[in-house]
Amino acid sequence: MSNKKFHLSEEGTDTSIELPVLSSTLGQDVIDIAKVPETGCFTFDPGFGATASCESAITFIDGGKGVLLHRGYPIEQLAAKSDFLETCYLLINGELPSASEKKAFEQTIKDHNNVESSVEQFMAGFSQGSHPMAMLCAVVAAISATYHDSTDVANADDRNLTIIRLLAKMPILAAMCHKHFSGQPYVAPNNDLSYSENFLNMMFGEPGKEPNISPVLAKAMDLIFLLHADHEQNASTSTVRLSGSSGANPFACIAAGIAALWGPAHGGANQAVLEMLEEIGDEKNIDEFILRAKDKEDSFRLMGFGHRVYKNFDPRAKVMKETCDEVLAELGLDNEPLLKIAKRLEQIALEDEYFVEKKLYPNVDFYSGIIMKAIGISPEMFTVIFATGRTVGWISHWNEMLSNPYRIGRPRQRYTGYTKRDYPA
Ligand code: CMC
Repeated sequence: MSNKKFHLSEEGTDTSIELPVLSSTLGQDVIDIAKVPETGCFTFDPGFGATASCESAITFIDGGKGVLLHRGYPIEQLAAKSDFLETCYLLINGELPSASEKKAFEQTIKDHNNVESSVEQFMAGFSQGSHPMAMLCAVVAAISATYHDSTDVANADDRNLTIIRLLAKMPILAAMCHKHFSGQPYVAPNNDLSYSENFLNMMFGEPGKEPNISPVLAKAMDLIFLLHADHEQNASTSTVRLSGSSGANPFACIAAGIAALWGPAHGGANQAVLEMLEEIGDEKNIDEFILRAKDKEDSFRLMGFGHRVYKNFDPRAKVMKETCDEVLAELGLDNEPLLKIAKRLEQIALEDEYFVEKKLYPNVDFYSGIIMKAIGISPEMFTVIFATGRTVGWISHWNEMLSNPYRIGRPRQRYTGYTKRDYPA
């Protein structure tokens, strides 16, 4: 609790309530508005632009400075020195693992590196070419049926088992969505490979064939997962928390998070960036698209630009951009026309008065799509990969909420409909 207090008073009356301020370890303190209903009013904040929906000790973002910390560690340092599974351990447990803890964690994930055979039958119900996000959302919800026996959300052991199951099974489910989408046979998980190598092998390998994964691409894949691991209370994470607050099955809660992520204003932006670059097609057309993005009469937005929280460069985009250069060099795609368009677009947007004034910087989705396309991943899969990386963030927030006192999430509303009226006689 901070010493600061605010008073909310109604003009012309003696009504006044004291609103305590709760301090944060970093960033803005928060005004505790729990007493506001005593005034006879609710607060109104559509889009949650001014409202902290929960307490959390997992991730901190300073959008003005372009800072992203996981459990206090800067994302740039984690990207350079850690790997995805170690970052998962950090997000879940709050501390980096020792060498033996890391090994044991990796082994536990491998112990759950499988899915029930019924998953294949479930997937067979989708026609080939179905959108992978639709399949992922459905199949994750479906396995809540399999794991309904050990999901006592009040039991820490059950919660830990759920976390491990999700981290182990998401890459398998994601790769199955890709294989089914493209009409290819599934490739079984392989415990001789690292987490990201195994994912790439399930995506691009063939059944019965020896894995052949480029170390550069495996490192890039691991980094893509790591950079997407968590981002505090975004739309999908808030959806998982809200669903989880009713005590719902965690796999179903993650399916709800996947649904929220799908939209182009959130995780779906990576697919939309690539589609936009393809639509622009040539550097000579960029000016026309910039003009469209600035035109209030046109719904077109420059995908991969802007963020609710970052009013500076998205730190994930900086790391992603460097990896993008490495991957394209490794694959001999340095002259990839889409990359040229992307670089020129970025340069123009960073100098253009409209984008500068509104602080619309490139976000993580701007470069991730280009890397994924270079690796050979189809755009429909981009958001699935975002979801695979973000699962650890979703489930860490769910676990944090359930490990502490919490109430069901239940927002109020400003009602603007009819007043009471009688049914016609
Ligand atoms: N292109 C053109 N204008 C834009 C853009 C854009 N990409 N983004 C925002 N603006 C304008 C917007 O028109 C508004 O102008 P005005 O103040 O004149 O009405 C102003 O900037 C503020 O925009 P907003 O929609 O109020 O901002 P928001 O915080 O509600 O939305 C956003 C944030 C990410 C949804 C939005 O910037 C956007 O639609 N960007 C493109 C989609 C995108 O790249 N999404 C990925 C986000 S990062 C990954 C993730 O976290 O999921």
